[in-house]
Amino acid sequence: MEFVPIARLEEIPAGEARLFERHGVRALLTRVGDTVFALQARCPHRGCDWNGATLDGEILACPRCRFRYSARTGLNPLTTACHVNQSTAEYHYRNFPEGRAELYDVRVDAETVAVATAPRPFRKVVV
Ligand code: FES
Repeated sequence: MEFVPIARLEEIPAGEARLFERHGVRALLTRVGDTVFALQARCPHRGCDWNGATLDGEILACPRCRFRYSARTGLNPLTTACHVNQSTAEYHYRNFPEGRAELYDVRVDAETVAVATAPRPFRKVVV
């Protein structure tokens, strides 16, 4: 998998969500504790830019209509309770795409934050 450096660690304060775009890659980076997470740059609900999104713990709130997503899993916490297995989860997110944001793998090397160029394949996650 290819990774592209898009930020420096010091540019991502703990508890904040910021959009970064470099080298043709655009992602929303969050820092929860000591871990950096990367989500797609636009909200899966109506596609608004996530500039101004707020972070409470690991929960990101969209500035437009306040749908919430876990920065850690990309999932809307309200949409995960009905899943009993991977296939029901896949069915759900195919038919309710705003329930899940694409999550990208992140590598932090020294002070440089690099993001994968392709999203992580979806797997059901216990939240
Ligand atoms: S556009 Fe983000 S919650 Fe509606």
